[in-house]
Amino acid sequence: MRTPLIAGNWKMNTDSSSAVALASEIAQRAGEATDAELLVCPPSVYLALVKDALGEAAVGLGAQNMSCQPQGAYTGEISAGMVTDLGAKYVILGHSERRHIFGESDENVNKKTLAALAAGLTPIVCVGELLEEREAGKTAEVIRGQFDGSLAGVTAEQMKSVVLAYEPVWAIGTGKVASPEQAEEVHADLRKQLAERYNGEVAESVRILYGGSVKPDNASELLGQTNVDGALIGGASLKADDFLAIAVAGAAVAQA
Ligand code: 13P
Repeated sequence: MRTPLIAGNWKMNTDSSSAVALASEIAQRAGEATDAELLVCPPSVYLALVKDALGEAAVGLGAQNMSCQPQGAYTGEISAGMVTDLGAKYVILGHSERRHIFGESDENVNKKTLAALAAGLTPIVCVGELLEEREAGKTAEVIRGQFDGSLAGVTAEQMKSVVLAYEPVWAIGTGKVASPEQAEEVHADLRKQLAERYNGEVAESVRILYGGSVKPDNASELLGQTNVDGALIGGASLKADDFLAIAVAGAAVAQA
């Protein structure tokens, strides 16, 4: 049984006081969705503040990106060690905004994934196709390429602590959500790849999140798909009510 992971990617939003207020409200209300695992990924500069605001609540903390380098002359970067030092356990890697706005390649994502694992962080490795790739019938090929490239050299044992996220680029921040069938098709294919490349145990244990315009009104259907094990939420994660409503939908699926 895979515990649903409901993750908020706050992206480059909030300021110090709204980040603390959002984290505090989520922490206070985390009991509404105890059968789901909750995670917030604020901007890195607020990780420590958010960690304090979360206190002892059952809400995890993650970063949105990190360097593949452990330390040194890399102006503006943060290392895996810095992320763990601030109490984060997760890091989102290869988000489509990193890939498409900042030019991150599968090779970059792979180096970061290996560095995160070596530092004891759980990477949330994102994959997803562009609209033109979907329209050209290339979705499976693109996702397979990203899967292979981003996870090169990750052992079966390490893979058990990786989370995957399928985020179709055309559904991110657009209000155009993938249909539950479209999501399930890609998630099932990802699980098949896990079984082929590793083994059945790995395939059964890895959580595959869906991301792209997840909202309270579409969460139950998406999270109800066999191979959808949680959500990576952008816009709706900035409102505690919406984030928690999605978490409640995840918890309900876990109970069913
Ligand atoms: P939206 O939920 O705003 O579409 O963003 C999804 C996303 O990119 C989460 O990482």
